[in-house]
Amino acid sequence: MRQHRRFPHALTLLTLLLLLSRLVAAETPPLFGEKWRPQFHFTPVDTWMNDPNGMVFYDGEYHLFYQNNPFGNRWGHMSWGHAVSRDLVHWEHLPLALAEEDGVMIFSGSAVVDWKNTSGFGKGGQPPLVAIYTGHYTAKPLQNQHLAYSNDRGRTWTKFAGNPVLDLKMADFRDPKVRWHEPTSRWVMTVALPKEAKVHFYASPDLKQWSYAGEFGGAGATNGLWECPDLFPLAVEGGGEKWALIVNINPGGPAGGSGCQYFVGDFDGKRFVADPATHAQTAVPLWADWGRDFYAAVSWSDIPKSDGRRLWLGWMSNWDYANDVPTLPWRSAMTVPRELALRPTPQGFRLIQRPMSQLTRLRDGGGSRRRASVAEANAWLARRSVSSGLAELELRLDNVPRSGALALVCRHGRTGETRIEADFAAGTLRLDRTRSGRSDFSASFAGVHTAPLRISEGRLNLRILFDTSSVEVFAQGGESVLTELVLPDSPELKLSLTATGDVGSLRVNSLSLWPLRPAPPTRTHSQP
Ligand code: FRU
Repeated sequence: MRQHRRFPHALTLLTLLLLLSRLVAAETPPLFGEKWRPQFHFTPVDTWMNDPNGMVFYDGEYHLFYQNNPFGNRWGHMSWGHAVSRDLVHWEHLPLALAEEDGVMIFSGSAVVDWKNTSGFGKGGQPPLVAIYTGHYTAKPLQNQHLAYSNDRGRTWTKFAGNPVLDLKMADFRDPKVRWHEPTSRWVMTVALPKEAKVHFYASPDLKQWSYAGEFGGAGATNGLWECPDLFPLAVEGGGEKWALIVNINPGGPAGGSGCQYFVGDFDGKRFVADPATHAQTAVPLWADWGRDFYAAVSWSDIPKSDGRRLWLGWMSNWDYANDVPTLPWRSAMTVPRELALRPTPQGFRLIQRPMSQLTRLRDGGGSRRRASVAEANAWLARRSVSSGLAELELRLDNVPRSGALALVCRHGRTGETRIEADFAAGTLRLDRTRSGRSDFSASFAGVHTAPLRISEGRLNLRILFDTSSVEVFAQGGESVLTELVLPDSPELKLSLTATGDVGSLRVNSLSLWPLRPAPPTRTHSQP
């Protein structure tokens, strides 16, 4: 009797389970098709990501390593995730490169091609890839610098037996960025002492022995932890070259929380001397990006001279809420790769960032309107909506007056809107995401963030990239940049353009809107 009763029960349970699994399968979107999954920005497959690490170009491949928790989608068990790309648009996910081991987490750092095999890690006449990263000890307050190397194009890595290679016995000493310094024929490491708001420079003939060379600090924004520095020569528009020293800071960023500042000057292998004209008012930091979601930006190493570009990207989030952004199963994205330059201005040098040129390959149809009034341009925009929400907009205006304002309202679906507003009198560019969509996961997510806008010869240009959960605004050829996450309820994008105030002479020289194609990964690899 009992048997008899139990059997039908088991059957019902089985049927129920089957039904449930069907339901769940129907509800589970395909990988990379989830709500808010960026379609042309890099994201980890199904885990947590923060800083970009070890970016290096070798043998036709751009490597992107990243701070990764292989076991979950919140910060922890820090290791280096890994992906490679041949065009910086499509990424192939590779297995974990460097894993937390023996109580040592793998914090941020860099990688170089050791062309001259100075380290002796090379094999079979091929130069090794060498990663220089911070070992973070979980059981004691200690961070020091370590090496790992690869002899198979970054596919497998060996931790150096002589680690650590640089140890100040400090709790906070991290994020080494190494480059070859040609004039002195040696390696230079720029590394942060976060709590002292300074960076140290060390020099080495072989990546293993490091000696103190100099330091820089106490300038720009100092009211936060200095992290993830970078140091590189950078071309000046119109000719010449200067050195850029990048210092990420958290908190203390321009929009609150994490931010990325830069210094322009000269570097002789030991000392970085800030350019006096650029940094005359030392109290005013120079920000690479004025939005809320641009952090830990560092550049690619070993880009061939024939390419000549300095490329970087940043982590598109903010420590104020990074762990709580409601995306599943992954958490966090990188910005698009950007090309860097310096622009001479009456106030000194300014960093210029442009979306890297290969991105235009994603343009899918689209069109342009030339020589129009703002009202005509608005009517043109009203006839175009982008259902996928993936788009690029370029706007060039002439005769910009000294007062009045221009507003670009970006509507997502029925309810959400992100406002981008150029205020000519104030000389500012504002991005308002207070009504963009989901923001309840953090009290500090919704907000209005402002960048300076330097208008010369009455010209304004904006280039904007829209992905499913981000907006990147490049104004004035990349002189003012705002990067922001937005989480709209619906992806569809509709744009409108209006001008207010004394704007009678304002003309739209050109307006282009391109829907963009998604750039799915060429191969995914789930962790661990
Ligand atoms: C910056 C940072 C780095 C550190 C890493 C740890 O976001 O705090 O200083 O190396 O993240 O994940």
